[in-house]
Amino acid sequence: MATVTKIAQGLKSALTPFSVRTMLPRTGDVWMGSSLRGKHTLPPHATQSSIICQPPKDQAKAHLTLMEQYSAHNYHPLPVVIAEGQGIWVKDVNGKTYADMLGGFAACSFGHSNPRIIQAAKTQLDRITLTTRVFNNDQLGLYFQDLAQLCGMENVLAANGGAEAVETAIKLARKWGYEIKGVPHDQAVILVCTGNFHGRPISITGFSNDPNSRNNFGPYPAGFRHVPFGDAAAVETAMREDKNIVGILFEPIQGEAGVVIPPDGYIKSLRALCTEHNVLMIADEIQSGLGRTGKTFACDHEDVKPDVFILAKGLSGGLFPSSAVVSSRKIFSVIKPGQHGSTFGGNPLAAAVGREVISMLQEGTYQENSRNIGAIFASCVSRFSAIKEVRARGLWLGADLKPGFGTAQEMKEKLMQEGVLCKEAKTSTLRFSPALSMTLDELHWVLERMERVLDRNEN
Ligand SMILES: Cc1ncc(COP(=O)(O)O)c(C=O)c1O
Repeated sequence: MATVTKIAQGLKSALTPFSVRTMLPRTGDVWMGSSLRGKHTLPPHATQSSIICQPPKDQAKAHLTLMEQYSAHNYHPLPVVIAEGQGIWVKDVNGKTYADMLGGFAACSFGHSNPRIIQAAKTQLDRITLTTRVFNNDQLGLYFQDLAQLCGMENVLAANGGAEAVETAIKLARKWGYEIKGVPHDQAVILVCTGNFHGRPISITGFSNDPNSRNNFGPYPAGFRHVPFGDAAAVETAMREDKNIVGILFEPIQGEAGVVIPPDGYIKSLRALCTEHNVLMIADEIQSGLGRTGKTFACDHEDVKPDVFILAKGLSGGLFPSSAVVSSRKIFSVIKPGQHGSTFGGNPLAAAVGREVISMLQEGTYQENSRNIGAIFASCVSRFSAIKEVRARGLWLGADLKPGFGTAQEMKEKLMQEGVLCKEAKTSTLRFSPALSMTLDELHWVLERMERVLDRNEN
């Protein structure tokens, strides 16, 4: 514990002064109606050993039984049954509090039950929630304007989940390829990266490298070609060889692969190659975007503007699926009425919440906090004896375990016992993507518990 405290304090004083307190929700002093007076945001009993006491009756059992019986087994969740959440904290049905260090796969970037987001949603719920795009609504134009401006782009197409937006971008790139670039009919090729994760629909599954994700779901659509992630020379070779390439779809940082960061200059090189070969640079910033890496977009780290942004996750403040493809007017000009759409895409509820999310990002404090707290987090985790390597940008961290320390799955379960929820990526990597509002006190609480699991030599 002493190590963590020392490191955290050292780093804290090394950072430019900033007020994480100002990031807190106004109601941050209250945890689920129970009194948490004073300024800190830890749950009421966080500093006491009662955090690991078991309540007399296990209320989770009945829920786990229902899940076992009625759920399709497409996930293997930890046996925690969450009932409430606020900020980085969640509480299970037994009343035990955990730090949610996964943050809804990086979708809950502004914390659970963020009061600004909840208020925006409530206000809109009382007005109207669905008009369809057959009519206009009084939120959508404002939302599109805000989002286009945040991205430095011109036009927005709204969708629901992330994968739907990826599919939309693929359709957009192909149509652009045929109608503007002049690629022969049905010959369009989109470059994708090895190790990618862009979602679960058939076309996207088809260009996954992960056998567990793709085996026995075929046949898959053609028109995708792999290049090694992070290898700009391979992209250049492919673009020189094949004039039918219409786009490169890439994650600026590969999240599901374990927070894999490409070499410096990679994104800039992609920009230059795409411009030279008249290929659309399509940045899937579904996980990396909207403040996660400490900048509004991960492409901002190299001062690059792609041709197409794909956004989702945090765009809805963690409330429901909401996604968008953002690009130029010229590129979007190929999509005409009736050629693409969805019933819920652009609904006024998502638009109203999206506007609030964008206004929070415009203030810049979430990005700043992500940078500052993320730097401390990465530095501390990299010192744990179980950790071989840490890859981090902002509050997004992948930590590889040393051989012999157990699998990531085992460590994840031990961390859960200590009150820290996270997820593994592959067999030996733990990944973390907590709310960007995380405070230093909260981080300290988490690190103390992580240290118990990941810094014991006898492990
Ligand atoms: C980079 C990236 N693209 C696409 C997706 C798919 O998003 P969704 O699960 O909302 O369909 C994800 C989800 O984790 C992602 O991380």
